[in-house]
Amino acid sequence: MSEPTGKSSPTVYLYELAWILPSIAIPVGMLAALTVTVFGVGMHLPTVEGRVPAAQVAQTAPFDVPGIKQVGPGRYEVVMTSQIWTFAPNEIRVPAGSTVTFVATSKDVVHGLLIAGVHVNAMLLPGQVTRVTARFDRPGEYAMLCHEYCGIAHHTMWGKIIVEPAS
Ligand code: CUA
Repeated sequence: MSEPTGKSSPTVYLYELAWILPSIAIPVGMLAALTVTVFGVGMHLPTVEGRVPAAQVAQTAPFDVPGIKQVGPGRYEVVMTSQIWTFAPNEIRVPAGSTVTFVATSKDVVHGLLIAGVHVNAMLLPGQVTRVTARFDRPGEYAMLCHEYCGIAHHTMWGKIIVEPAS
C-alpha cells in the first residue's frame, strides 16, 4: 500500500537530513581547513621568486657562479643550476644541523629537484628562480634527484648532499 500523497513520514525527513547535513558540513569543514593552512600555518603554492633571462642563465648573477656559501651560523645558501644532465654543484657538503636554502634554476629544459629524506620537491624552470629551504639534522648522504623527465639521460641526473657529523 502506498502512503497518502502530500505527507512524508518522519523517517524520510531523517534520511534527507542524513544527506543534507554532511553535504553542508563537509565543504564548510574543508573551507575551514583551507583557511587554517593558508592563513594560520602559512602554507601556500610556490610563488615566483624571480626571473633571469632563460638563454643567459650562465651569464646572469648569481647563477654565473654556482656553489655553496655560508650565510650565517648553521645556515647555507646553495646557488644551483640544472642542465642536461647534471646539477651544479652536484655534490654539497654541510655539517649536521644545517639549514640550507637552494636558489636554483634551469639552463635548458624543465628539470626537477627532489631531495630524499627532507621536504624538497620542486620544479626548475628555465629562467625562473626556485627557492626552497631544508634542514639537515641527520648525518649521511641525501640523494638529490631530477624528477622531471628531461631527455634520454634523465635517469642519470642526480647528485648528493653529504651531511657530516657536527664537530
Ligand atoms: Cu633533469 Cu630529468
